Amino acid sequence: MVGNVIVGQSGGPTAVINSSLAGVFKTAKDRGAKKVYGMRHGIKGLLDRQYVDLSEKIKTDIDIDLLKRTPSSYLGSCRYKLPEISEGKETYEKIFEILNELDIKYFFYIGGNDSMDTIKKLSDYGILINSDIKFMGVPKTIDNDLAVTDHTPGFGSAAKFIAATMKEIIRDGLVYDYPTITIVEIMGRNAGWLTAAAALAKGEDCEGVDLIYLPEKVFDIDHFMERVKSIVSKGRSMVIAVSEGIRVMDGRYVFELSDHVEFVDAFGHKQLAGSAKFLANKIGSELGIKTRAIELSTLQRCASHMSSRTDITEAYNVGGAAVKAAFEGESGKVVVLKRVSDDPYMCITETHDVHQIANIEKKVPLEWITEDDFVTDDLIHYIRPLIQAELSPIMVDGLPRHLNVDM
Ligand code: F6P
Repeated sequence: MVGNVIVGQSGGPTAVINSSLAGVFKTAKDRGAKKVYGMRHGIKGLLDRQYVDLSEKIKTDIDIDLLKRTPSSYLGSCRYKLPEISEGKETYEKIFEILNELDIKYFFYIGGNDSMDTIKKLSDYGILINSDIKFMGVPKTIDNDLAVTDHTPGFGSAAKFIAATMKEIIRDGLVYDYPTITIVEIMGRNAGWLTAAAALAKGEDCEGVDLIYLPEKVFDIDHFMERVKSIVSKGRSMVIAVSEGIRVMDGRYVFELSDHVEFVDAFGHKQLAGSAKFLANKIGSELGIKTRAIELSTLQRCASHMSSRTDITEAYNVGGAAVKAAFEGESGKVVVLKRVSDDPYMCITETHDVHQIANIEKKVPLEWITEDDFVTDDLIHYIRPLIQAELSPIMVDGLPRHLNVDM
C-alpha cells in the first residue's frame, strides 16, 4: 500500500460517530496503511496544520472498544464551509500542500450533508489538478436528513434515547390528578425524523405522546391551541413532541416569535431553540394550565449509555466500507446504507456519487404524517429496527468509561 490515510469529523456530534472513526482506523491498519492521521476539528483544523497520528492514540483493542462507546467527535469538529473552487484557489492549494507533505493518498470525512460539501469540493479540485488522492464521505448525523442512504449512523441511537426518554417523561407528566402539559423539543433542524421517534414510546406499558409536530408541515398555532384546549378540557394531562424546526405560515420558526438571541453558523443555519418554551408559555398564560418545556438539546446527541447496537455496528461498517472502496480506487463518493430486508432487518453498504448527496436535505415524506398531528405506522416501522439492541457501556466507578482525548 502506498501513501498514508487521513480522517476527520465534522458537523454536530453523535453517540456513534467515533465508531465510524474506529471503523476507518482499524480497516485502514488491517489493510496495510502505514500512518493514519486524524484532523483536529475537521478541515478547519487541518488548514492550521492541526492533526495527530492516530496510532499513538489508539493502541490496543480495548482502545477500539472504548472509542466505539465514546460519544461526541473524538477528533473535535467544525462547522466550516470551504469556498467555491473558483473563488478560493489559495485555500485548496494550501490543503493539497498539507496533504502532500503528509503523503496522504486517502482522505475520509465523517459528517452530514454540509460536511459532504467538503468531500465534493476537494474531490472536484483533486480532479482539476490531476491529484491521485482518493476522497470518501462517511455518513453521520442524528438528523437523518442525508439523501440516498436509507438512514444515517447516529440517528438510531438518538431515536432510541428520545423514545426511552419520552417514556420516562410521560410517566412523570401524567402523575398528578389535575391536567398538566409537557412540551418536549427535539433536534433535527428542518427534518422531522428524530421528532417522529417520540412515537416509538407508545406500547403496552406506555400511553405514548399525545401530539407530534414535524417541521415538514406548517405549524398552525391557533389549531394547536384548539387541540390542546379540547384535550385538557376532559381533565387529561398531555405530553407533546415538537421539532426545534417547526415554522409558521410566513416561514418564521416558532422560536422566532419570542425574543431570542440568534446565532448563525457558516452554512447559514440559525441556532434553533426555544419553540417548546414559547408554546408552553403561551398555553400557561392563555389557558392557565401548568406547563413545562423540556429541550432535549445536546442530551439526545451523545447519550452513548442508551445507544443502539445496530447503530454502533452500522457506524463502524460504513467507516470500514469507505476505506475498502477508496483502497480499491473509488473517489468522490459517499458510503450509503441500503435496506435489503425489513423482516429480518438487514442493510448493506454501497457507494454513491457525492454530488447527489452534498447539501441536500432529506425530509420526512408528507404521507407519513397524519392529519391529526401524529405519524403513521409506516414511519414507526421504518425507525423501529434502527433502535434495536444494546452495547453496554464499560462502567468504571459507577460511570461509563470513555477514551481519553489528550491531544
Ligand atoms: O448536527 C445536527 C444538529 O444536531 C441539529 O439537529 C441541530 O439543529 C444542530 O446540529 C445544532 O448544532 P450546533 O451544535 O452547532 O448548535
